[in-house]
Amino acid sequence: MEIVSTAADWRAALDDARRHGRQVGFVPTMGALHAGHASLIDAARSEVEMVTASVFVNPLQFGALADLTAYPRTLDADGALLKAHGCDLLFAPSVAEMYPHHPEPEATTVHVTGPALGFEGSDRPGHFDGMATVVTLLFNLAGPCRAYFGEKDFQQLAVVRQMVADLGQPVVVVGCPTERESDGLAMSSRNVRLSAAGRAAAPVLHAALLAGAEAATKGAGGRDIEAAMVARVASEPAANLFYAAAVDPTSLTIVEDPAVGSPLRLLIAAEIDGVRLIDNLAAISGPCG
Ligand code: PAF
Repeated sequence: MEIVSTAADWRAALDDARRHGRQVGFVPTMGALHAGHASLIDAARSEVEMVTASVFVNPLQFGALADLTAYPRTLDADGALLKAHGCDLLFAPSVAEMYPHHPEPEATTVHVTGPALGFEGSDRPGHFDGMATVVTLLFNLAGPCRAYFGEKDFQQLAVVRQMVADLGQPVVVVGCPTERESDGLAMSSRNVRLSAAGRAAAPVLHAALLAGAEAATKGAGGRDIEAAMVARVASEPAANLFYAAAVDPTSLTIVEDPAVGSPLRLLIAAEIDGVRLIDNLAAISGPCG
């Protein structure tokens, strides 16, 4: 696996691949890679000839400076995982390479609304604008490609899909299923920050989603689905719920009265041990009773 750190080298390598008829698959990451990221590389590897990943801890999508500073940087281990899963090319730029004026803002950024409103968007002001800005910059450097995102960050995936459609970016967005631990906890770079007790409590998010999905299958309305999830989280004293909701999978607007057979996405976020955990699950609204 080749590693490049300049935008010019990355762009040139991917342009060259396309010139030789190799389709490009791109996995954007912030490093601290785990099996969830590996599954994105595997998906790309099975579909395209040229697999590239980026590792860049994007300062624009962090609120508090402390969170940015504390974010794990594990480039050697990340490189080993990417290589083991058949990644061809890693782009690992510096902050100065991506944002020459940082910490002053660049003149141009991306502002997202629609699916970016609410949930993580309202709890973490500026997060999705910062994410959309770096993803746009990365897409512009990478050029036409298939880009692989985990469904674990379902709102992020919806925001990126909407942005690609609205801005005509030459990218096919591929959503990949969430990888889970054996007890249902969604894999996340944040899980390592949980204490043993917090780790034992954390599967409550998935359990709450399952309770919500069961209520949906039985024909419950959106508020009752939400209530089923809230009740399940309330049974775990270590968890502090931020939100639980049944939403439209594309617009992420809250669904109060789902039509029978309509697809829903259940979203949840809670804090355990001071660590913000998010998760989501697909559900189908069933007939009443
Ligand atoms: O999901 C992430 O790791 C980040 O939000 C992304 C897409 C790499 C942008 O920084």
